[in-house]
Amino acid sequence: MTHPNIIAYENVENFDSFSKEQFEDYCNLKINDCSKHINFIKKNILNFRNDIEKSKICEIGSGNSKLLYALEKNKLISSGIGYELSKSRVNFANKFGEFTKSKIIKNVDQDFLLDKNPLNSPFDLIIAVDIVLQLISPINIDQEEKALKWIRKNLKNDGYLILELWSLSNYIELIEKQNGIFRKWESYSAEDPWEFCLAEISRMTNGDIIWDKTFLKRNKANERSFFRNILRPYSKDQISNLLKKYGFEVIKFFDFWETSDDSVEEEYIVLAK
Ligand SMILES: C[S@@+](CC[C@H](N)C(=O)[O-])C[C@H]1O[C@@H](n2cnc3c(N)ncnc32)[C@H](O)[C@@H]1O
Repeated sequence: MTHPNIIAYENVENFDSFSKEQFEDYCNLKINDCSKHINFIKKNILNFRNDIEKSKICEIGSGNSKLLYALEKNKLISSGIGYELSKSRVNFANKFGEFTKSKIIKNVDQDFLLDKNPLNSPFDLIIAVDIVLQLISPINIDQEEKALKWIRKNLKNDGYLILELWSLSNYIELIEKQNGIFRKWESYSAEDPWEFCLAEISRMTNGDIIWDKTFLKRNKANERSFFRNILRPYSKDQISNLLKKYGFEVIKFFDFWETSDDSVEEEYIVLAK
């Protein structure tokens, strides 16, 4: 059976469901959302201040590739490659690239682990933001090891890795308090075709977290959509030990990108070298 994390993002950002105007507004919004990442990279990674030749970047789980396009727009990158499993997202990312007139970003519709000789490797920077590593590790018993070995192999000796992770410790506590399953409802604004979402969060015996979401359609509560992610929680200590094991020597933690309100509670950023 296919692991839920491999198919979770199928049909996300389906280009055909956007009008031209919606698409352009959405892309502009997404590029603007990246200013916090851009400022973080400018501030914390010296190479990216002056030496564009030393800016070969790879993003793992690149989604719509907004961050790669934002880096290109800010002239901080000499080449970029994004790996993304979801076909609809890669298609969207390619249209996004046409919109931004991108010249140096390549979107690859593939599991990054299957690419043994990535284009323009070794990289100066590898990025896996928005809990990507936490989606990769639960897929298979040796996936975490394979991912970290791949990253180390394809990163220059003085290259950087940026991870964005979620410790999930509050949720672990809530699951325990609620006897194994914590439930919460969310409601969405009137423009959204979905009115409510029920999240059901529980734990597997190996500690990974099962995060199920059932969406209920506005005015048609029997029309539903189901989404499952399995997430591996990482505390700062756990990720620090793991990165050291795979050759990283300098590991810094940040609780937000630029301002204290720009991250979800319990999310943090890792900059490793
Ligand atoms: C939470 S989303 C984050 C997307 C993007 N990084 C962002 O910040 O908007 C995680 C993405 O990683 C992709 N993904 C998960 N495992 C992957 C793998 N092994 N190779 C490539 N993409 C992967 C998923 O399809 C999904 O689109």
